[in-house]
Amino acid sequence: MPPGLVLAVAAFCAVVSAQIAWTPIFLDGSSQVDLWTQSSSGCACAGGGDTCACCVRDGACPCGDVAPARCAQCGLEQYCASMCNITIDSRVLKSKSGKTFGQIKSPSLEGPGSCSYFLQPDAGQRVEIQVYRLVSVGRFNGTSCVGGWLKLGAATAVRGAGADTRLCGANERYSPPVVLFADHGASTLEFRITETTVRSQFLAFFSFTSLSNTQGMGFHPRGGSRIPNTDCDWLYQDVSCRAPGSCVLASPGYPGLYPPRRRCRYLFATNSVHTRVKIVFTSILLPRNHCATDYLTLRAGSSPSAPLLGSLCTERSAVLEQPGPNLLLEFNSGPLVPPYDYNGFIAKLEFIEQADGTGAPPTAPSAPLAALTHLTQHADLDGISSVDTESVSNEIVSTNGGRVGCSIKIRGYGPGGVRSGHFDTRSSNWRAQCTIHLIGAPTDVVQVSLFNYNLRLQSCRSHIEILEGLHEFGGRGERSERGDRALLRVCGPSLREARDPSGRFLERQAVTSKGSNMTILVRRAATQIMDDEEFVDGAFAFHDELHEGTASPDSACAATHYGLASPSHGGVAAPSHHHIFWNIEERLQCTHRFIPAINQSVTIEIQRLERMWSAEPAGGGAGGGAGGAGGCRTACGDAGCECRAATALHYHDHVALVAGDGTHLSCLCGDFQAAWLPVVVRSWSGVRLQYSVAHYTYASRGFDYAAAYSFNDDALCGQRTFTTHSGEIASQHVPVTGSLNEFFYQQCTWVLDSNVERQLFIDITSEQDKSCGSWNITLHEWSRGGAQSGAGLAAAAGELLYTFCARHKNHTYTLPWRLNTVVIRLVALSRQQPLYSIRWRSQVVRANTRLGPPTPAPAASPAPAPRAPLWTRLLALYYIGTALVS
Ligand SMILES: *[C@@H]1O[C@H](CO)[C@@H](O)[C@H](O)[C@H]1NC(C)=O
Ligand SMILES: *[C@@H]1O[C@H](CO)[C@@H](O)[C@H](O)[C@H]1NC(C)=O
Ligand SMILES: *[C@@H]1O[C@H](CO)[C@@H](O)[C@H](O)[C@H]1NC(C)=O
Ligand SMILES: *[C@@H]1O[C@H](CO)[C@@H](O)[C@H](O)[C@H]1NC(C)=O
Ligand SMILES: *[C@@H]1O[C@H](CO)[C@@H](O)[C@H](O)[C@H]1NC(C)=O
Ligand SMILES: *[C@@H]1O[C@H](CO)[C@@H](O)[C@H](O)[C@H]1NC(C)=O
Repeated sequence: MPPGLVLAVAAFCAVVSAQIAWTPIFLDGSSQVDLWTQSSSGCACAGGGDTCACCVRDGACPCGDVAPARCAQCGLEQYCASMCNITIDSRVLKSKSGKTFGQIKSPSLEGPGSCSYFLQPDAGQRVEIQVYRLVSVGRFNGTSCVGGWLKLGAATAVRGAGADTRLCGANERYSPPVVLFADHGASTLEFRITETTVRSQFLAFFSFTSLSNTQGMGFHPRGGSRIPNTDCDWLYQDVSCRAPGSCVLASPGYPGLYPPRRRCRYLFATNSVHTRVKIVFTSILLPRNHCATDYLTLRAGSSPSAPLLGSLCTERSAVLEQPGPNLLLEFNSGPLVPPYDYNGFIAKLEFIEQADGTGAPPTAPSAPLAALTHLTQHADLDGISSVDTESVSNEIVSTNGGRVGCSIKIRGYGPGGVRSGHFDTRSSNWRAQCTIHLIGAPTDVVQVSLFNYNLRLQSCRSHIEILEGLHEFGGRGERSERGDRALLRVCGPSLREARDPSGRFLERQAVTSKGSNMTILVRRAATQIMDDEEFVDGAFAFHDELHEGTASPDSACAATHYGLASPSHGGVAAPSHHHIFWNIEERLQCTHRFIPAINQSVTIEIQRLERMWSAEPAGGGAGGGAGGAGGCRTACGDAGCECRAATALHYHDHVALVAGDGTHLSCLCGDFQAAWLPVVVRSWSGVRLQYSVAHYTYASRGFDYAAAYSFNDDALCGQRTFTTHSGEIASQHVPVTGSLNEFFYQQCTWVLDSNVERQLFIDITSEQDKSCGSWNITLHEWSRGGAQSGAGLAAAAGELLYTFCARHKNHTYTLPWRLNTVVIRLVALSRQQPLYSIRWRSQVVRANTRLGPPTPAPAASPAPAPRAPLWTRLLALYYIGTALVS
């Protein structure tokens, strides 16, 4: 071994002991036999006798007859002979010996055997154990202790408290000691030998350490809150971490050894778009060469399967800084490994108001996150670097921090125009009235989402109004009128924080304009109160309805493209990285709905698709980070592409083309092969393109895709009524793209109607050799109720009479007589366009030449066999009735 390496190792050890902390336990400092006995040969007795036990001055009592030369801690002297199966109560000990610490020296056990030590702390104390010596106490087989162990655990079983903290060793001296802290009240130190041994023993110090101990031994987390029903999960919000040093977190048991096989999650949540989270790890000490089991990860989002930002294991300290809104730090531990010379981590948390301003993820990730370049690709924020301030006289305009302040005009088009941004009345000087004008291009609508606000004045004297069009604060009397017209009005006193106390974002409070302009008016007190400031912050975005579809007023991310109104060709893509998505976490679903007009079809072609990410539901494997590409798979067949996932589809990123009835025409997920693109669906009825991100977070938007659409004029798919007595409906070839994954979706309805009684014959032929499942034609009774439901002709299809499948080749259907109105439906989901011909002819019936069964006599009950719709039957009876009368 080269000498340098020896040095390095030596230096390493020094650091180790420097990082592990324990309560110093010593008394007189002289060379003692043990903590309480000064000399094994005894001292002169006070009364002048031969030799008496020689005890330290403070807190020690002689053992008496069982060991005349030895001393013990007062209160424990009855255990001089054997310190086994005893209770050590902090208060009792303090009153008898004046000390809240002491020594446990086990008897020499002949294994198998066991001893337990019940430790009862007082309020405000944690149990601390320092193990110095193990003799014949089992051994470590690589994953656990076998043959015997020393274990510190809760006195009563703690639900979900994970694996035991067990130490073992054949003949070990620990210097520094192995340090353990227990924070669950009364604890039990258990010494157990399960194999045959001659002499098994341990030596430890204990301490009831005050939680207010400033040396770190009394560590307890600050500023966070425990997440209920979890083992060791915590939430830290920026609102409770404003003051420096007010938020501190650490691994369980810090600064002692942490328990094995734990997973603790620390969620950091911000309330503002511009807040960044700085995590200062002042100490990290994990076992060497166990990075596979003992490590820290940081993720961009609140979910354990959110994108990984980085992981820590061998670092001694680190500073990580990331934008919000959510970050998840996860601490994982494997088995306890000798020589137990590590203690986890401690970190301080700071929430920083970002100075530079765009609100974008960092352009250069700080080490050790350098590998995470994917984050930076999305730094494409529409930063409000230049805001149009024309004609704003004497206004205070703040572009500082990328924010829009109190009074401003924002233009969504032209030079210097911005498409989205964040506004915050706190970012400019105080004014009692704030006006934010949002001016869009003629085809734009404006979306605004409020995140946080505080309005103090009663009776609506403080208020927020969001109005259609451009407005100024007017004279008296205008206010109430305006209030009635507001798209959204919030009256003081009112307080909103973006999140609830458990850290979840509140439901969005958002509005969408109908026209291209919008005004946000904020009225508040004439003067500012520093610690209870009245303010509003939120985000805006302009949405171009001509190209992006008609915005849905009640959803952040839904638009409709109408065949008659929108351009005949266009494109859609993943949503932009708009500030209005800041307070969306977990799932994001964006929908583009395409509604072809009558005699139109729509073709949607998914042209580009980034690799989609697939989650395992929370609680997945310990390694966790890979995000399990195996989670969801795409399988394309004759009837479209399908997402195959073991878990619910919303756990997986995917893009789906969905029919009006919810049928997935095509669904793509997982590591979908680019070679399979484009995926094309041509549909003759409404289809929606659904973009679904399983774990959306503002800091790491979802995957990208691009799709093109076109509305085609073709009168192929029914929605027509024929009143002729004979005719033909035949398919026509439509041009195809030639893509391997091109699918046709048809739901066509035709009605054959007659106002005179007749018998219908319908011939259906097809030369295609396709299964029934890929397409089929059905004949139905006419349903008056359905037809009147307003759901279009399709709803008029009543009871099913016959089904034609392509493999029937050629079939003639003879319909029951007097079934004058028939509905024909074609349903197809297939790689090939259905090719068919439907011909019909009618025989108009005269009384004595009818082909059907005899008409029932008027008095008889209606014949059940050929069930004509009720209204035709009633009509028939009416005719018969009038014939009898005349
Ligand atoms: C201590 O108590 C346990 C359980 O009661 C018992 O099994 C064990 O033998 C005791 N140890 C000694 C040394 O008496
Ligand atoms: C170690 O011991 C445990 C408990 O007896 C056992 O489950 C495990 O398989 C052992 N591991 C090895 C590597 O022998
Ligand atoms: C929006 O404001 C601009 C600028 O004042 C104006 O030219 C335009 O007509 C307004 N649009 C609507 C729909 O009122
Ligand atoms: C649809 O096309 C058919 C046949 O070309 C035509 O008769 C019908 O009027 C069209 N319907 C509409 C609403 O344009
Ligand atoms: C008819 O075709 C549709 C669409 O392909 C299919 O879903 C349905 O199951 C088919 N019906 C029968 C009876 O096969
Ligand atoms: C269908 O069958 C009928 C008789 O079974 C026949 O007259 C007719 O020509 C056939 N049509 C086609 C298109 O094969």
